[in-house]
Amino acid sequence: MELKPPLVIASGVGGMGEYLQLIDSKYIGAYTLKTITLFPKQGNPPPRLFATQNYLINNIGLENIGIDAFVENLLSDKYAEVFDRTKVIFSLGGDSPDEYKAVAEKIAPHERYFEAIEVNFSCPNVKEGGLNILSDLSSFKDVLSCIRKTLKGFLIAKVGIEGAIVEKIAQIVEDHGWNGITLINTVRGLEIVEDRIIKGGLSGPLLKPIALRAVYEVKNKTHKLYVIGSGGIMCEKDVDDFFKVGANAISLGTVVYKNPMIVERIAEHIWRCYR
Ligand SMILES: Cc1cc2nc3c(=O)[nH]c(=O)nc-3n(C[C@H](O)[C@H](O)[C@H](O)COP(=O)(O)O)c2cc1C
Repeated sequence: MELKPPLVIASGVGGMGEYLQLIDSKYIGAYTLKTITLFPKQGNPPPRLFATQNYLINNIGLENIGIDAFVENLLSDKYAEVFDRTKVIFSLGGDSPDEYKAVAEKIAPHERYFEAIEVNFSCPNVKEGGLNILSDLSSFKDVLSCIRKTLKGFLIAKVGIEGAIVEKIAQIVEDHGWNGITLINTVRGLEIVEDRIIKGGLSGPLLKPIALRAVYEVKNKTHKLYVIGSGGIMCEKDVDDFFKVGANAISLGTVVYKNPMIVERIAEHIWRCYR
């Protein structure tokens, strides 16, 4: 996969392309759509976001229209403008191993639309009581090989740091013939606001050292995987740090809420320093 610049909009923060209203797409190497699951999800009731200077907790709950409605929209050109303007990465999720496989089967005939397919392995495995799929390595391996057989294009595993040692997971991903890995997703967080508990995925600056370490370890262990660094990238120095530990591309998430124009600044920095 060649991204120019090697800058990706992270899954979830830009919905189904809405962020392109705010930014010139020449600054974006690829745009990841929000995760699509087998069945539609309404997401969680509010409050869904809790923000501080150092982190954001989101409790969106993977709200999405489900793969059947997504494919219908795709075929009726609802996302045509997004495809016209930038390379697009499809984000595939599921609540159980079988759901991952089913979504892969349904997107397979339409793979040509996408630069890559990123599989979000940080979704809780509802069947296993909410743990993510990484906590059961035999079903994880089974899902990796089934999806690799179903999808022929560039396949990226998106993993968090919960459920297993990340470099061990990366080695398994590589051994199953996948092409890339996105490190990391949000980690589980909790805040108490006016006596109300808010549980959700924690993102933003607090995540950076954790994500950086994950990229460092994975790059030292694996040989072929294309690594997308994701977690707390807020400024040019963060980008430099991720490239220093070997990331092939960087992903911007929470920062685009804080400052939508940052993408432009970071892309120009990448062109200036890494051409
Ligand atoms: C509001 C919000 C929604 C998100 N939705 C998704 C999602 O649908 N799929 C996914 O793989 N990651 C999702 N993420 C995680 C981001 O893609 C990203 O990996 C994570 O936030 C860490 O990067 P950051 O610190 O730059 O935000 C979401 C993050 C936020 C803040």
